[in-house]
Amino acid sequence: MNELSLAIRTPDGLAVVVGCSHPGVEKILEAATKIDPQLYTVTGRFHLVLNPAEEIQKIASILDETLKIKRVAPGHCTSELGFKILMERFKDRFDQAGVGQVIQLP
Ligand SMILES: [Fe+2]
Repeated sequence: MNELSLAIRTPDGLAVVVGCSHPGVEKILEAATKIDPQLYTVTGRFHLVLNPAEEIQKIASILDETLKIKRVAPGHCTSELGFKILMERFKDRFDQAGVGQVIQLP
């Protein structure tokens, strides 16, 4: 399923805003690296509600180690399990995303 995403250039790489990531947030970010190989952050919905922990771990690893994104700010349909796994991996590089939150860009 095609999906609309927004990539904003920053001095530290792209800030990507995703819709609901039904094609896979890692695939959207991989496509964004064709614009700029350096990724700064991603916000929006990662849609991991149906994914088992092992798959979420793999996606978190791709974001961190393969795509080398600096920060993440996942939204609600990332799932509670998704938030937990992403918080454990990204620690202080995890930003809360939600109504009224401000995500600082470099
Ligand atoms: Fe979703």
